[in-house]
Amino acid sequence: MKGRVFSGARPTGRQHIGNYLGAIQNYVKLQDDYDCIYCIVDIHALTTLEATPMKSGLQENIHEMMLDWLAAGLDPQRSILFVQSHVPQVMELHTLLSMVTPLGWLTRVATFKEKARMQPDNINYGLVGYPVLMTADIVLYKANIVPVGEDQLPHLELAREIVRRFHYLFGPTFPEPQAKLTNAPLVLGLDGVNKMSKSLNNDIELAASPEDTRERVISAFTDPARRYRSDPGHPEVCNVYRLHSFYNPERLGELGAECRSAGIGCVECKEALARSINKELEPFRERRAELAARPGYVKEVIADGARRASAIATETLTEVKQKMGLISRQVIPD
Ligand code: TRP
Repeated sequence: MKGRVFSGARPTGRQHIGNYLGAIQNYVKLQDDYDCIYCIVDIHALTTLEATPMKSGLQENIHEMMLDWLAAGLDPQRSILFVQSHVPQVMELHTLLSMVTPLGWLTRVATFKEKARMQPDNINYGLVGYPVLMTADIVLYKANIVPVGEDQLPHLELAREIVRRFHYLFGPTFPEPQAKLTNAPLVLGLDGVNKMSKSLNNDIELAASPEDTRERVISAFTDPARRYRSDPGHPEVCNVYRLHSFYNPERLGELGAECRSAGIGCVECKEALARSINKELEPFRERRAELAARPGYVKEVIADGARRASAIATETLTEVKQKMGLISRQVIPD
């Protein structure tokens, strides 16, 4: 039997090239070898919404993000693509798992401490339970493989602890979920300092127009020591060069040498990068426009995803409730 993959991502709206290189690309590949379930976690988004409001509404963000996922190759025929709150069983399971999760496990998680520091006036109950909801996401579908970035490893560790404690109390029920670390490169934003992110406005959206992409690339920071065209550059500290490594791997050596000898200027180097990004993204952008033009398509995909996810969820939840003694075993048809 194929393993089951589950991953979730927050509804951040239009995705950028960092999202693609770091996660989406990998989600697409995993479809070949696993049964995959990919979820836009709108309930998780609520834990930080008051402290960091979104520029667009949740509904718009979900729609734009799903369009990007689909255009990038997530296949609704093979995988289950859905929105977290559309399968409300996850909230029931979250409550049940919360009963077996010591509070101390949650308050000592580094990500919780960090978020509490970021939003001291809104350390809400949901924020503390964030990893419990994430555990519920994964185990509701009995997923055994969870592709995530390194920042999520503490949450996965906690998920396994919760699963083990549940098993100790009520008997074996779930697979112990394993993180699958992607060989995801760290993609820095156009500022060359911070991780590429929408909120820092240092990103290049997959769905951007070629002109917009070019303008953004031209605005990117390069080697700060290279102030004049004739100054030799240091590609090893230049983020534009780093981006070339993703979009122009075969020309990297040449570009590096030309930068070091000041044979090529930063503007020229960025023009070349913009051209390569635009070329690479052209089929994606065409596909996205086609899908966006089909009325109701995204809504159909997520409704179908919710139906399929819900069938699995209901089965798991029934089993959990039986084990916890909330319903008797006899009434469950087999
Ligand atoms: N916490 C994850 C993040 O911020 C998102 C997430 C929610 C998730 N539920 C999940 C990831 C389940 C993997 C599995 O990126």
